[in-house]
Amino acid sequence: MAQTGRRDFGPETTTDEVLEGIDLSGRTALVTGASGGLGAETARALASRGARVILAARDREKLDAVAESIRRATAAEVETVALELGSLAGIRAAAGRVLERHQALHVLVNNAGVMACPESRTEDGFELQFGVNHLGHFLLTGLLAPALLRGGSARIVCVSSRGHQQSPVRWDDLFFEKEPYDKWAAYGQSKTANVLHAVELERRLGGRGVHAFAVHPGVIPTDLSRHMEREDFEHIRRRSGGQLRLKTVAQGAATSVYAATAPELEGRGGVYLEDCHVAEVNDDPESREGVRSYALDPAAAARLWELSEELVGQRLPV
Ligand SMILES: NC(=O)c1ccc[n+]([C@@H]2O[C@H](COP(=O)([O-])OP(=O)(O)OC[C@H]3O[C@@H](n4cnc5c(N)ncnc54)[C@H](OP(=O)(O)O)[C@@H]3O)[C@@H](O)[C@H]2O)c1
Repeated sequence: MAQTGRRDFGPETTTDEVLEGIDLSGRTALVTGASGGLGAETARALASRGARVILAARDREKLDAVAESIRRATAAEVETVALELGSLAGIRAAAGRVLERHQALHVLVNNAGVMACPESRTEDGFELQFGVNHLGHFLLTGLLAPALLRGGSARIVCVSSRGHQQSPVRWDDLFFEKEPYDKWAAYGQSKTANVLHAVELERRLGGRGVHAFAVHPGVIPTDLSRHMEREDFEHIRRRSGGQLRLKTVAQGAATSVYAATAPELEGRGGVYLEDCHVAEVNDDPESREGVRSYALDPAAAARLWELSEELVGQRLPV
């Protein structure tokens, strides 16, 4: 695609186009869920501009293969760290390993995720989607915050989804203990929590040079759909009003890379981006565009922070 300028970025913009002219040498970025899909591409793109990248996920073999392919394609330093976001002990161990090796971090992309899985629990008893997508990243980010603050200027990217429109945080029944489990409501609330996490991170850290962004990547065929059945694809098609536009992985990861690096976002944060732009607030239940106001509500963001600290059993140094 011929690029005419950063202001023309849109749904078809790729990671490499976003990074044109940007030098990331001397910067260290950690990307979760980097063993495939959008995370692997996000890490590759950042590395291609000179960032040292730390790839985090569960599957060692897949991580090593992605790391090797990035080393072959770039001159960047590439490390891996085993991370199970469904285990608080596992997250503490992974964060400890990162902090032992790195004084400072400049980019944290909270990208790992699971979608619409059958009802299950994390090691610590949390509903899996809320536990992995939100609480796992909440703890990881809190533990890594001192290194991000030492980075001087740093960005946190919370990879959310348009799926946040399917549910606000279910304050009275977070883990579906009162009502029957609904895999899409569970995904929706976890993705709303990702946006609220960015809002509260920005409030707490923005004044100290660490800015946080929530991102909707678009709709990209990846392994994320591994739990989906035929009727789920129908459900998504119906929700999109028959106008489902698929992106490539490089287009899908572009908004994360944009949030992590765009000079025009300097000094901003606590916003939700899609197609490499800050999205409008949109509460029209018929519309799939933009971000619901409940996901940007500062009071809900503060409430979620407190609740999350209670659930992970730790006050975070943020
Ligand atoms: N693809 C889309 O259309 C789309 C749309 C909207 C939002 N998103 C969001 O984009 C992000 C990336 O999705 P994707 O499409 O790239 O999916 P994907 O290909 O399934 O990749 C998901 C990544 O998350 C990791 N992961 C899953 N469970 C984990 C756990 N318990 N602990 C640690 N890592 C875990 C996986 O690694 P291992 O299994 O190897 O550990 C994998 O690297 C997700 O947050 C998703 O919600 C995607």
